Amino acid sequence: MKITVVGTGYVGLVSGACLADVGNDVLCLDVDANKIRILNEGGIPIFEPGLEAMVARNKAAGRLRFTTNVEEAVAHGTIQFIAVGTPPDEDGSADLQYVLAAARNIGRNMTDYKVVVDKSTVPVGTGDKVRAAIADELSKRGAVTPYAVVSNPEFLKEGAAVEDFMKPDRIVVGVDDAKATELMRQLYAPFQRNHERIILMDVRSAELTKYAANAMLATRISFMNELANLAEVLGADIEMVRQGIGSDPRIGYHFLYPGCGYGGSCFPKDVKALIKTAADDAGITLKVLTAVEDANDAQKHVLSRKIKARFGDDLKGKHFALWGLAFKPNTDDMRDAPSRALLADLFAAGATVTAYDPVAMHEAQRIFGNEERLEYAENPTATLDRADALIIATEWKEFRSPDFDVIKKTLKNPVIFDGRNLYDPKFVRSQGVEYFAIGR
Ligand SMILES: NC(=O)c1ccc[n+]([C@@H]2O[C@H](COP(=O)([O-])OP(=O)(O)OC[C@H]3O[C@@H](n4cnc5c(N)ncnc54)[C@H](O)[C@@H]3O)[C@@H](O)[C@H]2O)c1
Repeated sequence: MKITVVGTGYVGLVSGACLADVGNDVLCLDVDANKIRILNEGGIPIFEPGLEAMVARNKAAGRLRFTTNVEEAVAHGTIQFIAVGTPPDEDGSADLQYVLAAARNIGRNMTDYKVVVDKSTVPVGTGDKVRAAIADELSKRGAVTPYAVVSNPEFLKEGAAVEDFMKPDRIVVGVDDAKATELMRQLYAPFQRNHERIILMDVRSAELTKYAANAMLATRISFMNELANLAEVLGADIEMVRQGIGSDPRIGYHFLYPGCGYGGSCFPKDVKALIKTAADDAGITLKVLTAVEDANDAQKHVLSRKIKARFGDDLKGKHFALWGLAFKPNTDDMRDAPSRALLADLFAAGATVTAYDPVAMHEAQRIFGNEERLEYAENPTATLDRADALIIATEWKEFRSPDFDVIKKTLKNPVIFDGRNLYDPKFVRSQGVEYFAIGR
């Protein structure tokens, strides 16, 4: 099938590469000429396990191409995926300008039947806006060209995006057009040979399903973070509680890890956007989600609160080692990462930091520029020199079993603030290390 993917970011590039990998002819469009140049020169603009090899393989086979040329992109695919960003607007609602610009480009240039598939996370009703934008552009040039608008929200997780796309738990397709339904079935057939994974529904339900999924996951995290803070005061161990409740199949173990707050490009903005849609479009206050967001905003400061409780509010002259910058392991994404709130708190209190992250340091350099209070080290151990304590903000595998002897000898004070509960408190403390975790 001929497929165009509009927006070549985390979702667009992964979708494009995976769709090419099963034999489709895919053209990826982006307005970011630098991104397209990197891809055309054989590079890769983001870190995602398995993606670089998949892009190279399909590029070499001629099934995956990249362009900034809108006319070429619209002409190419019968299926036009929209996978552009939907960042929060100033009021928290999803900013639809990129989605609607992509839709208008399609309407302005299409000359034959198109299925316009929205993969970006968008509020309920966006399908109608996309349809209207295309209709408006068609009528401006007096064209009558048939098209369908489909909602196909993406559930991939950064860090496991290729695997998630290739082996999806479910493929939600919101569609009200028979021809488009058939094309979507054909498109996804290679990804569900084992059993049917497509869940067909109307466009509005599909749009809401994506927000509901992220809101539920964010709720579990904030719930556990609040209980962790309670456990700490009551003298309970949240890790024991997690196992005690996760074993109930109605609850399950996933997404019950307390930590220093959820971040990333999705949960914070999607929770905000759903609260805003409910208030503006339905006059409903989503009380649970409002609390989820408040709890998370507070939790992003849990590490700096603990650090100040130990070293005092004034951290002038204090220097910290930081392990982890990305919002979670296996990604270089730092959008809304808890590490950013932590660094802001530490800098405001006068501290300096040496950080290490296996893949996100170039992203941190882009974000923090010439920030003098932040240095980078080439490996975890090298962060420890001159540091008053070690802070852990991302649960990368390589942090899970460190040499506590080295940590103890190198730090000025043997103190660890662990925002991800990586270690057994009894064991770490038995090594002579002062250990502050979350809810333990
Ligand atoms: N990142 C994730 O893990 C994830 C998972 C599921 C859903 N989503 C959703 O998918 C959407 C995309 O997210 P992302 O993380 O891939 O974003 P991203 O910022 O990585 O990529 C978006 C890309 O779209 C490009 N773009 C913007 N306007 C354009 C236009 N008119 N034409 C062509 N390209 C254009 C940008 O230059 C950018 O490269 C968002 O709605 C997001 O909420 C993201």
